[in-house]
Amino acid sequence: MISFFSFFLLSLMCVKNSTCHVHYLSLPILSLAGNHNTWSIRNRHHGRSPIKARKTQYTLEDHYQGQDFLDQWNFFSNDDPTHGLVDYQSKGDAVDKGLAYVQGDGTAVLKVDNSTWLGSGQNRASVRISTKKKYNGGLFIADIYTMPHGCSLWPAYWSVGSNWPNGGEIDILEGVNMQTNNQLTVHSSEGCSIVKDVVSKLVSADISVGNLQCASSGTDNTGCAFHQDDTNSYGHGFNINGGGVFAHLWNSQGITVWFFTRSQIPSDITSGNPNPDNWGTPSAFWAADSCSMDHFSDHALVFDTTLCGDWAGATFSGDGCPGTCSDYIKDPSNFHTAHWKLNYVSVYQSS
Ligand SMILES: *[C@@H]1O[C@H](CO)[C@@H](O)[C@H](O)[C@H]1NC(C)=O
Repeated sequence: MISFFSFFLLSLMCVKNSTCHVHYLSLPILSLAGNHNTWSIRNRHHGRSPIKARKTQYTLEDHYQGQDFLDQWNFFSNDDPTHGLVDYQSKGDAVDKGLAYVQGDGTAVLKVDNSTWLGSGQNRASVRISTKKKYNGGLFIADIYTMPHGCSLWPAYWSVGSNWPNGGEIDILEGVNMQTNNQLTVHSSEGCSIVKDVVSKLVSADISVGNLQCASSGTDNTGCAFHQDDTNSYGHGFNINGGGVFAHLWNSQGITVWFFTRSQIPSDITSGNPNPDNWGTPSAFWAADSCSMDHFSDHALVFDTTLCGDWAGATFSGDGCPGTCSDYIKDPSNFHTAHWKLNYVSVYQSS
């Protein structure tokens, strides 16, 4: 067991660093445990290593584009678990109503209904899709042109395990109402948190660390969060710049998220040879030290747009929206821009 673990740690260091340090093998195992996220500092202090290792290669596992979003993702058509005032559509209904389709240029579109007047108490038709395949780590790259935003809307690109919160939840792109900045959030079972002193040094200067406790307990599902100050990251600011890429790496070190507005997408992403070592300081980092990756398993990736509900409904007035959320959703003209336009989602595994 110990020797297997030693081998594992050596592999880990080789994978994360561009070089391997063979003397790590002689360190007591415990001195490494709980210290993985200091790798970059340690690497800097050691200078050149006697052993050259190839840098981590990422191999494409899945590439979802165009019709794949309709064929390889499930359409969730139950009641919204977050109590949104939506009727999520089956694939057949979503396609028939023009709420899920592929444009001539290959862009996949997921819409909120914008043609139906609602009576009191009626829900608006919307779409929630999730990958048929489940993931237990990897490098996930989502290239998004346009996202829904505005009063009553609560769009999200996220991933979730089964038996929530036990399988964990990773919210990559999410917000409500007139919000102009993205919030990145993790929800989990007990024993997962952000340690602000550690993490605030590792994320971009334009990120603020929010709630530190990731575990959901009782009715407190706040989760632990990072806030992007950059208004390119969400809503109108995201859309007028042609959207961008959210990339997240989920590996033994933790979960790391980068955001690139369209004009700044690294060429290694565009060319299909992603190299996170070149992407600079991330927008969010949940370190495995303070949140074991055991909290996350069998994740499906999800895109959805809900309305009102536990978050957008609760903050509707406070966010400067008129009247009540349930009245606001009656008028279809409030939803002419309520759609996702997706270029692709790619999933890579390290090799
Ligand atoms: C719904 O929104 C689209 C733009 O996304 C627009 O082209 C269409 O005319 C709208 N539908 C109605 C009934 O206004």
